[in-house]
Amino acid sequence: MTSKVLLINSSILGDNGQSRALAEHFKARASARDGLSLLERDVVAEPLPHLDGTEVASWMVAEEARDSQQHDLAARSESLVDELLAYDVLVLAVPLYNLGIPSQLKAWFDRVLRAGKTFRYTENGPKGLVEGKRAVVLAARGGQYAGTELDSQTPHLRHMLGLMGITEVDFVYAEGLNMGEGRRDAALREARQAIDSLVETL
Ligand SMILES: Cc1cc2nc3c(=O)[nH]c(=O)nc-3n(C[C@H](O)[C@H](O)[C@H](O)COP(=O)(O)O)c2cc1C
Repeated sequence: MTSKVLLINSSILGDNGQSRALAEHFKARASARDGLSLLERDVVAEPLPHLDGTEVASWMVAEEARDSQQHDLAARSESLVDELLAYDVLVLAVPLYNLGIPSQLKAWFDRVLRAGKTFRYTENGPKGLVEGKRAVVLAARGGQYAGTELDSQTPHLRHMLGLMGITEVDFVYAEGLNMGEGRRDAALREARQAIDSLVETL
């Protein structure tokens, strides 16, 4: 079976980013698998601006009625939606910053969470339109939060993906990265092992 993987990096720490290191490990493993192809996007190196009302308004205008500014603003989001739809597996390398996701990654979600394109409103609430895809989250964290109520990042990501219909989501956590060398090394080792197992399932 062939799978196309879209990998999104969002660390602000460049080559020192631990989520990026996990993403690199994922890439190395994926490249050893036949039939897996991978496209990488870095939302920090190529940042999207905050979503604003002018851009949202451009989405509401029929394509043929858009002026050139509205056309450019709508295209920003639509090209990212098209990119997402063209891939089978979404891999998000996600740092924990101030108990949440990087604002650059939020700006990406703000472009791909599009009513009428990736989900639609129904009488029973929103329904996802992105079918047959799965996601993998590679989460790098200075502290230890998974499974506690302080981990608001996990449900936030799960719900944003779920809104689009991506409900098959695997999380790989590397936690306690700022809690001493021994703990960091063990967390990274375990995360790499979890990635190895996951890649085998793609
Ligand atoms: C601006 C900033 C905010 C952070 N906030 C938190 C936090 O709220 N909780 C935590 O456990 N670690 C926090 N950390 C530590 C990061 O989670 C840790 O450095 C992790 O490796 C980040 O992923 P990255 O290395 O891929 O950028 C923060 C780091 C930075 C730079």
